[in-house]
Amino acid sequence: MSDSVIAVYPGSFDPVTNGHLDILKRAARLFDRIIIAASESGRKLFDFALEERLTFLHDSVERLGYRNVEIDSFGGLLVHYARDRNASVIIRGLREVSDFEYEYQMSVMNRKLIPSIETVFLSTSSDYYFVSSSLIKEVAALGGDVSALVPSIVNDALIARRRKPLEG
Ligand code: COA
Repeated sequence: MSDSVIAVYPGSFDPVTNGHLDILKRAARLFDRIIIAASESGRKLFDFALEERLTFLHDSVERLGYRNVEIDSFGGLLVHYARDRNASVIIRGLREVSDFEYEYQMSVMNRKLIPSIETVFLSTSSDYYFVSSSLIKEVAALGGDVSALVPSIVNDALIARRRKPLEG
């Protein structure tokens, strides 16, 4: 059996931001292999389709040049996905105190479900602690410049959306 430690970095990535990439960069130094897993469905309605979210992730990760990072999507329970991919770690980024309660609840539930899978929290860098995908989308839709906070492919997509006439 291999001793390499595989970690899953799950999320909606709707869209991926530089805050997510900051967590990824640091996690890539800690674990042998990272699987970024975009959720196919969840509590939220997604603004970007799964294919778009995956394209943004592929492009962003390729630019970073990591060899130990894979991109995938998952449905169902996260711990089942992690187990099926032989991952022993779930990575989550913590931004501020308000993230903690929800993240703690999820990590305890996940550990109840499969005790051998540990959640590891990495604190988001101070450059991004105020960033969230919803806030990015709102600011971009209203004409704000978010280019320093998202990968260039995401910035281009947000600008293209702004130019599109509103539907409905
Ligand atoms: N920097 C900046 N922003 C960050 C960030 C970082 N490092 N990390 C997270 N965020 C933001 C995201 O942009 C997102 O913003 P939004 O709410 O405005 O969209 C928010 O923080 C949380 O997003 P994310 O990290 O993608 O998590 P999530 O809550 O969308 O996804 C899942 C959570 C998918 C991991 C969780 O719902 C799950 O495991 N689902 C599978 C079903 C399951 O197993 N359920 C039982 C769980 S116990």
